[in-house]
Amino acid sequence: MPEQKDPRQEVDAARTAFEREFARFASLTSGTGAELSSLTEAEAELRALADLRVRHTGKKSAIAGAKKLIGRVAPEDRASFGQLVQKTEMQLTESMDAAELALKTFIETARIARESIDVTIPGRRPRSGHLHPITLMRQRIEDIFVSLGYAVEDDREIETDFYNFDALNIPEGHPARDPQDTFYTTQGFALRSQTSTVQIHAMQRRGAPVRMIAPGRVFRRDTPDPTHNPMFYQVEGLCVDRGITMAHLKGTLAEFVHRLFGPETRTRFRPSYFPFTEPSAEVDYSCFNCGGDGCRICKSSGWIELGGSGMVHPNVLRAANVDPEVFTGFAFGLGIDRTCARIYELDDIRLLFENDVRFLEQFK
Ligand code: DAH
Repeated sequence: MPEQKDPRQEVDAARTAFEREFARFASLTSGTGAELSSLTEAEAELRALADLRVRHTGKKSAIAGAKKLIGRVAPEDRASFGQLVQKTEMQLTESMDAAELALKTFIETARIARESIDVTIPGRRPRSGHLHPITLMRQRIEDIFVSLGYAVEDDREIETDFYNFDALNIPEGHPARDPQDTFYTTQGFALRSQTSTVQIHAMQRRGAPVRMIAPGRVFRRDTPDPTHNPMFYQVEGLCVDRGITMAHLKGTLAEFVHRLFGPETRTRFRPSYFPFTEPSAEVDYSCFNCGGDGCRICKSSGWIELGGSGMVHPNVLRAANVDPEVFTGFAFGLGIDRTCARIYELDDIRLLFENDVRFLEQFK
């Protein structure tokens, strides 16, 4: 017979082993859960506690072993030993139940806190963007000309001298090249200094008759100041057909300003010079603000400059393979950002290109 250990000592040993391991859960039963720093930690502790339960009260635990000894102790001690085992097991179970409850309570509270939505918090309004004032102006201009039967051309910004100058009747050495000095590449290309280049491309592509406008960016070697920017927007217009006269030009631009600024708007044509038109004219319209009486916007003159215009020079038609004996045409060029700046009374045109939302969001 192997030497019998004292069964009570085994129960004591089981309790001591349990208490040593349970120590870290013991504080949980005080109920605050403050020592748990996160939901993840609490969930890990709950799993550790389940392990502990298996080891200390499961089938292979020391307590389970002690239970088996009950039948073997002397009959006169059996009842009190049995009570000791049972009481001990109950105490372990109760301790673990209390810790488990504390952990579960903490976990549930933390989950609710994580998932809860405060429906009373004011919503965050999505910031909706809008089109740039230059884009809005371009679209208004396009709408008007499209309704007059014009096509909208979107052409290249990098050009050869031929399209930017020669084909527009501005040969090498012509003084008209100077004010339109632009940015050049080393391969003989340049950023276009005017949208008039599209007149040539459009006639080459479509032939005559043709009616088109070409809005787009142009570039000049200018130092930025309140009224100049090295990059700005123009709209070119071209109408070529049999029998087109200056009257068509005047009628078209008069109709355009009526639609853009109102039917009371008047136009004025002043003789001018452009190499690609003959005759040429500067076009003004009566001030949309004062109607011509003179105000701050029109600088007391009653008139605002719209742009340049004229009858297409025969050399230009020829350069684009259109026969000037058969076809005549008119052309015009307007500044989009300049018109924008007038309408919105901007005292510095550069504001349009700085992309400061505080400025831009005023033009919704
Ligand atoms: N291209 C001229 C400029 O940039 C504007 C212009 C004037 C265009 C007269 C035209 C025109 O088509 O006929 O200053």
